[in-house]
Amino acid sequence: MLAYRHLFHAGNFADVFKHALLVRLLAALGQKAKPFFYLDTHAGLGRYDLAHAWAQKAREFDHGIARVWLRRDAPPALAGYLAAMRAENPDGRLRYYPGSPCIARHLLRPGDRMALTELNKSDCAELAARFAGDRQVQVRRMDGYEALGTFLPPKERRGLVLLDSSFDRAGEFARIAAAIAGAHRRWATGTYAVWYPAIERPAIRRFEREIADTGIRKVLQLELCVVAETATRALQTGVMLGCGMLVINPPWRLDEEAAPLLDWLAQAMARDGKGARVVRWLVPE
Ligand SMILES: C[S@@+](CC[C@H](N)C(=O)[O-])C[C@H]1O[C@@H](n2cnc3c(N)ncnc32)[C@H](O)[C@@H]1O
Repeated sequence: MLAYRHLFHAGNFADVFKHALLVRLLAALGQKAKPFFYLDTHAGLGRYDLAHAWAQKAREFDHGIARVWLRRDAPPALAGYLAAMRAENPDGRLRYYPGSPCIARHLLRPGDRMALTELNKSDCAELAARFAGDRQVQVRRMDGYEALGTFLPPKERRGLVLLDSSFDRAGEFARIAAAIAGAHRRWATGTYAVWYPAIERPAIRRFEREIADTGIRKVLQLELCVVAETATRALQTGVMLGCGMLVINPPWRLDEEAAPLLDWLAQAMARDGKGARVVRWLVPE
């Protein structure tokens, strides 16, 4: 239980995909004058030192953020994410990778609030230390699925939930579908972003059906694949070469904005020059 440590994977292609989209979701919330709430159910460490031995073991960031962060031709939709990266590495050397909590912190305005939950004891302690004294940030060591019951609906009545599981136990797709159904009953108007690995296509198909069967509308599906197989074909390698995100109640035009963004990222991080992406409505309005 909890063998997964994100430091081994920090800054990989899946992080770039997830965090580039996270920035767009939070930026959209920040466009209205009213405050928003952000809940990160599987928050991790908050920030990752890429010089750490665990990050150096497979150097997954070489195929992810290292390929992207200094490119001058990135699409405008990536600007906020790259600005957050540069803020963590002001001398232009890639040393720190900001996780979802630190990236989100860059996008909170003075009246906004975020809650971070993480089950791993030492990761949560480090996360709590990072945000100690920050009145806009609440850190709790607790199960991310329980957090949905604890924090939703938020008093702000607008905001985003990121559900970024480590998928290190069996049955995680079904657990997520059930958790989303329950959360959506409590708070139907929130935006939910659910990350998933694209390793076994049949499991994803089942997950899609489970989500569709909840009756929830407005579910956008986004995927990025770093190999030539199209992201819609079965990936049976057992190695993660693609990943996706379901976004429930996405901001207006995220679908139009995400297509060129993911095209660019797929090219930039492809292992063989032929990455692929999916942008489609799993369930329309
Ligand atoms: C993929 S990592 C999170 C990365 C982070 N969201 C980011 O983008 O920077 C998943 C995290 O979930 C934690 N975790 C696993 N099961 C959990 C649970 N049931 N509730 C809360 N955290 C959990 C793991 O310890 C791990 O730190």
